Amino acid sequence: MALRAPLRQLARRCSVAAPSTPRYLARQRSTASGSSLGETTKTEIARDASLPNPDPTADSPSARLIAEHQPFMLATYARPPPVFVKGEGSYLWDLENRKYLDFTAGIAVNGLGHCDPGFSKLIAQQAETLVHASNLYYNPWTGALSKLLVEKTTEAGCMDASAVFVCNSGSEANEAAIKFARKAGKALDPTGAKSEFVAFRGGFHGRTMGSLSATCNPKYQAPFAPMVPGFRYGDLNDVAAIPDLVTDATCGVIVEPIQGEGGVNVASTEFLVALARRCREVGAVLIHDEIQCGLSRTGDLWAHGALPREAHPDIVTTAKALGNGFPIGAVLVTADVADKMKVGDHGTTFGGNPLACRLAHYIVSRLADPELQKGVRSASESFKRGFEALQMQYPDLVKEVRGRGLILGVQLTEDPGAIIKAARERGLLVISAGQNTLRFVPSLLISEEEISEGLRILGEAIEATR
Ligand SMILES: Cc1ncc(COP(=O)(O)O)c(C=O)c1O
Repeated sequence: MALRAPLRQLARRCSVAAPSTPRYLARQRSTASGSSLGETTKTEIARDASLPNPDPTADSPSARLIAEHQPFMLATYARPPPVFVKGEGSYLWDLENRKYLDFTAGIAVNGLGHCDPGFSKLIAQQAETLVHASNLYYNPWTGALSKLLVEKTTEAGCMDASAVFVCNSGSEANEAAIKFARKAGKALDPTGAKSEFVAFRGGFHGRTMGSLSATCNPKYQAPFAPMVPGFRYGDLNDVAAIPDLVTDATCGVIVEPIQGEGGVNVASTEFLVALARRCREVGAVLIHDEIQCGLSRTGDLWAHGALPREAHPDIVTTAKALGNGFPIGAVLVTADVADKMKVGDHGTTFGGNPLACRLAHYIVSRLADPELQKGVRSASESFKRGFEALQMQYPDLVKEVRGRGLILGVQLTEDPGAIIKAARERGLLVISAGQNTLRFVPSLLISEEEISEGLRILGEAIEATR
């Protein structure tokens, strides 16, 4: 390890003067091969000298920590080697104190960036005041958050929100929405015949059995089949299929206005208008899952805010950015839906606890700021300009740029795994989505300098993988 620090300093200098192209790497390798060091050491030296943030090696503190912990962690995720220990704004630091520019924001969660000072201060304050007393009693913050969500939503000209159910995650928010729609269906048709749901291929709504049943993706569903009965699936933006898909038997329709996990696929206005019209015709509850695309990520408070009023949903589900990393989810409903729910119909032990709600109240106040939304729109343009330049430079690789605000997708013609690794080893974190899509969901406060820095690293990462 003692050898590594000076090498890393050298690496930083080298990475400015000479990007890590395959030719440059080969030159580095041949320089190292002249010495009497072992092959593994030579390769590691060459690698460290050529990259600002090489993935931690097998003898690093990160690797030792992972080796100690991994046997006890249920293997539901495949993770890259760095261990993150600190975050600030758009940056993360790993156990070896390497700095990474984060274009993932915890998968569209840290809207205010990592460890926003106001947010962190409130965690401490509220933790010293009241954390949990249960839903059997009132507290000042569940109601304050619900009121704020309703007021900000209506002020922004979005859905006619009337009441809010607070829970702990996105899956739970969708699970609640599914139950609310079933209950509304029962109210319209007490025989129980109005009980079907419609969802769309490429959508992602969560991992609990109800939300998973709405997630039409064999990768997620097949190991846990059979799904909850009564779910039908259609294709996003297939307007012609809507009348046969949504019928008198449909009690609820769930759709992401912009599919995040599915590859940043934007639902067209025409499609969402037709879907809403059909829901009204048959008396089905329309649920917009804005868990990833909501709370100003598109530049509007809710993604549906950009749609004509007739396309607005009856329910919006939210989570992710609502807690900036603290677990919380919420379901916004119209008065019509609220009327169908009675005391005892639904509940949660932790949902609506004063700590989560105090934090979410602060976060919603910040995210609903028109100045922040203006910044999101302008950052989006900068990203798009950068992506278009990459498309010009690599027309065989970059097929399409999709998305709105700061939920953006770059469609590639190949698996993005190598580019993601090359970017990480140059100090940039990006994630994938759908089929060969690079997904960009950074902090909503990301600066122009950070965008330029990230796009430069992305360009170098692409070049290094050619
Ligand atoms: C659109 C959407 N809905 C639902 C979920 C599930 O949320 P959670 O992981 O908090 O249960 C996600 C998570 O990625 C999502 O992106």
